[in-house]
Amino acid sequence: MWSYSKTQRFTMWWSMWMLLPAVVSPTSSNWQKAVDLMKQAPLIDGHNDLPLQLRILSQNRLSDINLRNLNSTKTNIMKLKAGHVGAQFWSAYVMCNAQNLDAVRLTLEQIDVIKRMCESYEEFQLVTSSEGIAQSNKIACLIGIEGGHSIDSSLAALRMFYDLGVRYMSLTHTCNTPWAETSTVGVHKFYLRNISLTDFGKEVVKEMNRLGMIIDLSHTSASTARAVLNISRAPVIFSHSSAFAVCAHHRNVPDDVLRSIRKNKGLVMVNFHTEFVACKKTATISTLADHFDHIKKIAGAESIGIGGDYDGANGFPEGLEDVSKYPALIQELLRRGWNEKELKGVLRANFLRVFKDVETVRDNSALLKPSEVEIPTEEVDNPCRLNLKKFALSGRNKVPSMV
Ligand SMILES: *[C@@H]1O[C@H](CO)[C@@H](O)[C@H](O)[C@H]1NC(C)=O
Ligand SMILES: *[C@@H]1O[C@H](CO)[C@@H](O)[C@H](O)[C@H]1NC(C)=O
Ligand SMILES: *[C@@H]1O[C@H](CO)[C@@H](O)[C@H](O)[C@H]1NC(C)=O
Ligand SMILES: [Zn+2]
Repeated sequence: MWSYSKTQRFTMWWSMWMLLPAVVSPTSSNWQKAVDLMKQAPLIDGHNDLPLQLRILSQNRLSDINLRNLNSTKTNIMKLKAGHVGAQFWSAYVMCNAQNLDAVRLTLEQIDVIKRMCESYEEFQLVTSSEGIAQSNKIACLIGIEGGHSIDSSLAALRMFYDLGVRYMSLTHTCNTPWAETSTVGVHKFYLRNISLTDFGKEVVKEMNRLGMIIDLSHTSASTARAVLNISRAPVIFSHSSAFAVCAHHRNVPDDVLRSIRKNKGLVMVNFHTEFVACKKTATISTLADHFDHIKKIAGAESIGIGGDYDGANGFPEGLEDVSKYPALIQELLRRGWNEKELKGVLRANFLRVFKDVETVRDNSALLKPSEVEIPTEEVDNPCRLNLKKFALSGRNKVPSMV
């Protein structure tokens, strides 16, 4: 007969409990590792639509809202901190319906609300350069325009947006512009022709290269993406798109474009929205991780980033419901054998490299003059534009008349 003393029994009971978590949850150690990694390399996220929510919730009246604990959104300052977000591109988005109407004013209002938001909370700091991100010990705020309709086919407007601090522009949203094509078919009726990238579109690309504004190909058609990759002198990004081979959605990036992104040394910042991750209303972290594995295989680990699309889309994978949950993805990628260097790249270093390269192209363009190309009038339907010719103010009308 054998028996254990009370002390022995207690020791066994205790050590079983101590061991249990490790047995039940083999990845729990990866959680701490994910958090530690994110502390060393805080996330630079490519796309967040909180500014759109500010317009919806309060017509941009920040005084009505406390961003520290706002609960009706996926994003607030508490959640950003819990998610180890170090820098965020805030989307200055206005609906395609504003194309040819007041898109420029509405875009200015979204830029204004982003600036006011980032200036009025001490947790935020507005930055406009790779150096600015690297040196900030707050949540660095960056501004991206989502949709070329925001410049109303004016390179002067594009330049002024750069001066206001805008550092990327998606060439389209869900509508064609007069010069670039969207991946979304059948939603809007603007400029329904297969234009890929017109001559004016090529001029937009050149001017963005010269200015140091990152070209964002999320939302463009694959044909437009290919045309841009063919001529851009700087790396380009997809600020919030996933892999077409994993989920065949038009918002995702096909393999041939992924291969071009590798050559271009550009970046695909993976979108978390369930429709793009799993092609249905629900998704798991594992399916999202499949996109990372696939893009790594085709484009390389140094061409991957994260663009969660929080507050722009409805539906996120279980376990990634809001911006506080990013470590759960890093934990899953650790489990799949991604190493520290690759993950620090995904979180931060890859984007910083791309941004620096874009800035270098700008610095090497000092001898190029600002483009004075105008879009041919017959390519734009603009019922709301003043007819400058009538007032002899068109550049093409040499006879001034002040009547
Ligand atoms: C949001 O939720 C948190 C935690 O549940 C709570 O402490 C906070 O007061 C809520 N904030 C608002 C504005 O309702
Ligand atoms: C544009 O091209 C797509 C295929 O790439 C085709 O399905 C569509 O009908 C074309 N649209 C027009 C207006 O020609
Ligand atoms: C890329 O550029 C080459 C040379 O200018 C041209 O022949 C080709 O059609 C272009 N491809 C695309 C997809 O624009
Ligand atoms: Zn979008």
